[in-house]
Amino acid sequence: MGEGGAWNLDLGDLGLDRGAAVLVRRALARVPVGESLAVAGTAPELAIHRPPGPAPRDMSSGLRNRVSAARAVWSAARPRPAVGAAPSSRARPTGPAPGPWWRPLPPTGAWPPRGAPPVEAGAPHSSSGWPARPKWADEAAALYTQALASQWDPATAIPWEAASNTAAGPEGELLEDALVQVLTFLIENETAALLVPARFASQTHPHFREVLQLLAIQAADEARHIEVFTRRATLRRSHLGLSSAGGQASLKTLVDEPDFALASLLLSVLGEGSFVNLLWFLHEHAPDECTRAIMRLTAQDEARHVAFGVAHLVRQARQEPGLVDRMAAAIERRHDALRNTSGLNAEVFDALVVLAACGLGPAAIARGHAAVVELTRQMHAGRRNRLRLLGFDAQRAEALSGLHTRNFM
Ligand SMILES: [Fe+2]
Ligand SMILES: [Fe+2]
Repeated sequence: MGEGGAWNLDLGDLGLDRGAAVLVRRALARVPVGESLAVAGTAPELAIHRPPGPAPRDMSSGLRNRVSAARAVWSAARPRPAVGAAPSSRARPTGPAPGPWWRPLPPTGAWPPRGAPPVEAGAPHSSSGWPARPKWADEAAALYTQALASQWDPATAIPWEAASNTAAGPEGELLEDALVQVLTFLIENETAALLVPARFASQTHPHFREVLQLLAIQAADEARHIEVFTRRATLRRSHLGLSSAGGQASLKTLVDEPDFALASLLLSVLGEGSFVNLLWFLHEHAPDECTRAIMRLTAQDEARHVAFGVAHLVRQARQEPGLVDRMAAAIERRHDALRNTSGLNAEVFDALVVLAACGLGPAAIARGHAAVVELTRQMHAGRRNRLRLLGFDAQRAEALSGLHTRNFM
């Protein structure tokens, strides 16, 4: 503020063609709308130049020669209308821990980062639009931090050379064949588990940046899982095992689910939750240390994916009273769609039995079969417990868990 209430800026000999516009814009940012900034300087063209480049948002470029060729006046003007980041018109609800989910999204499809000032009018809009239901869990930031800290490099975290320790001879070949069949099954399931978060990441407003980051790193986890399963499967075999029609049909229903909450239920809460059991089963029955390390690392990643799915749906179920019924309907719908498929292919089931049996003798096979039956019992119990967390009563959780695809994922 200068003498007599005027706003003044002295540029010395700095001309607008040499950067003085930066100082003018900064000074104008402090001038109230409707008032003027008197700019003094010795650059001879000062009074005839306009500020170079696009006009700053909060000033006009109107120039009036006030005193001489070396003195000019700019008026501060009303800012251009902006979109988004308006004060919340929706009362913040009381209840569980606060998150950004309750703040209104910009109404036009613009996508300023959360916390940024309003987007200027004229900003391009997203052509895809953003789903109305928020994707949020208060645990997202912590899970993202945990995911970052837990990243592992397949080249160094896995003792690839230890794969050659598998028992030699017919028994070793038998176990290797069984393992390759199971790994083939894992790879196709991991592919679906990558596609789902990748698709929903592209539909997540940057307002929910922690969720966006978490979905991105989840997709990266799955990419790494595909890599290590494929690399282990092809260490000693040139071809993968069988991919069944029933398995593909099951995964298709997963990938095709358009609703984020329902996809989280089917993929994370039910599918990946069951996969955690499967991976620890394979960790226990791995024929070598390389495979054991792979199963341990992937199981740890999967547990994080499950945790986000559960956290998101627990919150969402509190906000949306009808969600529990929608989730039940989704499980029943998927069960009906897969009613005429075979579920888990026989080759995978047999391979799991052989891996747990470590041989083909009747007593060993009986032991392996009992282990696989116990695995499916643990999967069922885990699904039932997670469904209880989402708000299902014991009877309904029991029934819905029983309808989950026999393909595990
Ligand atoms: Fe995975
Ligand atoms: Fe996963």
